[in-house]
Amino acid sequence: MACASCLSLLVLVAMASAASGQLSSTFYDTSCPNALSTIKSAVTAAVSSEARMGASLVRLHFHDCFVDGCDGSVLLADTGSFIGEQGAAPNNGSIRGMNVIDNIKTQVEAVCNQTVSCADILAVAARDSVVALGGPTWTVLLGRRDSTTASKTNAERDLPPPSFDLTNLTTAFANKQLSVTDMVALSGAHTIGQSQCLNFRDRLYNETNIDTTFATSLKANCPRPTGSGDGSLAPLDTTTPNAFDNAYYTNLMSQKGLLHSDQVLFNGGSTDNTVRNFASSAAAFSSAFATAMVNMGNIAPKTGTQGQIRLTCSKVNS
Ligand code: HEM
Ligand SMILES: *[C@@H]1O[C@H](CO)[C@@H](O)[C@H](O)[C@H]1NC(C)=O
Ligand SMILES: *[C@@H]1O[C@H](CO)[C@@H](O)[C@H](O)[C@H]1NC(C)=O
Ligand SMILES: *[C@@H]1O[C@H](CO)[C@@H](O)[C@H](O)[C@H]1NC(C)=O
Ligand SMILES: *[C@@H]1O[C@H](CO)[C@@H](O)[C@H](O)[C@H]1NC(C)=O
Repeated sequence: MACASCLSLLVLVAMASAASGQLSSTFYDTSCPNALSTIKSAVTAAVSSEARMGASLVRLHFHDCFVDGCDGSVLLADTGSFIGEQGAAPNNGSIRGMNVIDNIKTQVEAVCNQTVSCADILAVAARDSVVALGGPTWTVLLGRRDSTTASKTNAERDLPPPSFDLTNLTTAFANKQLSVTDMVALSGAHTIGQSQCLNFRDRLYNETNIDTTFATSLKANCPRPTGSGDGSLAPLDTTTPNAFDNAYYTNLMSQKGLLHSDQVLFNGGSTDNTVRNFASSAAAFSSAFATAMVNMGNIAPKTGTQGQIRLTCSKVNS
């Protein structure tokens, strides 16, 4: 009888570790005890010199995880003989911060040679960026290894474009084992950072569920003809652009979502109540965001002897 409960405890423990995908918060505690503090100092410095870099680093982790798992694949630069993900439509001319990650990697290599993966650096840098901009913290699970390949095709297949409606977004996140609540919470990362005009022009000129004053002010720097002003920037959160807060959701409630894919989360559909909840409770948003970031960070990690620990994040070891 005693061992019936022992056994069920063992089974529970085994299930819990399988559910967290073999990653562990203590992975570098003995092999590289200064890894996390090294990353944090570098991220804090980068974000104080340019607040937007915090947003760019959070997005880089998302664009890593959604394409064949969190394996650092997004960091691999194109070469004469290698086509990576950086030229894929959602990334090209848009993702930023790869040099910051390369610099962090150099510092981490200096304290522990060939121990800490680029995929883990991205996951920690995303958390530290959110904290640097005033958002919640969470414990990052570690032990991911780096890919030796990347896929432009899969990046274009799996990264959702801003034209997506609620159904398309739900499918894209479900394909990564993420719930609708995770999707609404993760979209709250658009409380920081900026978008180029080409990604919200159609909404400005065609949609009616947009605040008129908001649309008029955006049109000045995002003229209608395609091609002109494509790259001009607007904050994703018009009220507090560099603060990691829940203003993204109050903006949605007043039809001030910048992207089509933002406003569909509050447009009379099934996610309206979640948006209302996150708008009215900063604590509810913080908690859901932290949970969702851990869930996103668990997408298909390479562990054990899979992949490698890159020496330089932008290229496969030679
Ligand atoms: C729900 C589906 C999503 C869509 C359709 C989407 C789309 C976009 C687009 C079009 C931009 C602007 C890119 C540019 O103009 O260069 C952007 C920026 C950004 N996205 Fe998303 N995104 C989504 C989800 C996420 C998630 C899950 C995260 C992170 C958890 C995230 C974090 C960011 C951040 C922080 C920026 C600003 C980056 C910067 O300023 O450098 N997004 N997103
Ligand atoms: C990326 O965009 C640039 C223009 O900004 C273009 O010249 C290049 O061909 C694009 N790369 C890919 C792989 O499409
Ligand atoms: C780290 O170790 C690898 C081999 O394990 C070696 O090739 C590389 O030069 C070392 N780098 C530094 C900075 O010591
Ligand atoms: C959304 O999904 C539907 C059904 O899968 C598809 O027909 C439609 O083209 C998608 N919309 C966008 C903007 O990709
Ligand atoms: C939406 O707006 C863009 C830019 O103004 C325009 O080129 C496009 O044809 C419009 N699409 C629809 C479906 O109205």
